[in-house]
Amino acid sequence: LGTMTEADLYTLYKGVYVPNGVHTPESLKYYEEFTFRPDDVVIVTYPKSGTTWMQEILPLILSGGDPASVETLPNWDRVPWLEETRASSLKLEERPSPRLFTTHFHYNMMPPSFFQVKPKVVYVMRNPKDVFTSAFHYYNISSFLVKPGSQSEFLQKFLTGKAVIFGSWFDHVKGWLNAKEELQIMYISYEEMIKDLNDSVSRIAQFLGKSLEPDVLKKIADKCLFKNMKNNPMSNYSVVPQEFMDQTKTQFLRKGVAGDWRNLLTPEEAQHFDAVFKEKMKDVNYKFNWD
Ligand code: A3P
Repeated sequence: LGTMTEADLYTLYKGVYVPNGVHTPESLKYYEEFTFRPDDVVIVTYPKSGTTWMQEILPLILSGGDPASVETLPNWDRVPWLEETRASSLKLEERPSPRLFTTHFHYNMMPPSFFQVKPKVVYVMRNPKDVFTSAFHYYNISSFLVKPGSQSEFLQKFLTGKAVIFGSWFDHVKGWLNAKEELQIMYISYEEMIKDLNDSVSRIAQFLGKSLEPDVLKKIADKCLFKNMKNNPMSNYSVVPQEFMDQTKTQFLRKGVAGDWRNLLTPEEAQHFDAVFKEKMKDVNYKFNWD
């Protein structure tokens, strides 16, 4: 058996690689033609930034804290990725409002209906050094992704964005931060959520126009703690067969902390990372709250 390469596992779509195991020409066309409703809510992330976490938080908020909202369907059916093959089979057109979706698309990859209808967006971003660290482990356990290679090889791939799924982290974040002002986008970071989950949940609820009592907000935040999500079989990817995702090596809900890059990157690698960050993000005014 040869090693699977980008040519085997990925499709180039609008300039970025997407894994062809779950993104087919049909599924991508389905998304291009998708019709949003004004009260839809879309989670947007670069992979490994806190997608699954937000897929737990939003259903709980919108259901007023009902645990069933995250215990009956796996996260990918509960808040489905619109670009993936499953989406077209989920009868999303028949789902009651407000519908919840996920996407890893860059801003400039969003379909026409998105810009016409302007549904709400929760954009989650995370310290890219931690995104890199999380991805390095994740690429190793997922059979639909190209093996990361050595740490320095993967760092090169990540920083150029050419040989990783969904392309450059820098372009993803820049594109969404520069989105048109008339769009309703809440920007929130993984680090803010780690620092104060109660406050984050409360601000997200406010953004969604959902007024909840403090004890309900507290209950939701509690349910979304890493240790509790790890025990939710509908959120910890345990129903994915081992041949696709080998969680005996590393769990999908791996560490759930901020700053784990310190355990992986050498001082030289971290310095190089910072230099690339500074150069690529030099025209961005946003004040990122990580170190
Ligand atoms: P680590 O690998 O650093 O642990 P995504 O869902 O976008 O793929 O991101 C996965 C990352 O989010 C993983 O990071 C995972 O552990 C982390 N994560 C998921 N739920 C979390 C939670 N409730 N609290 C903290 N981190 C969480």
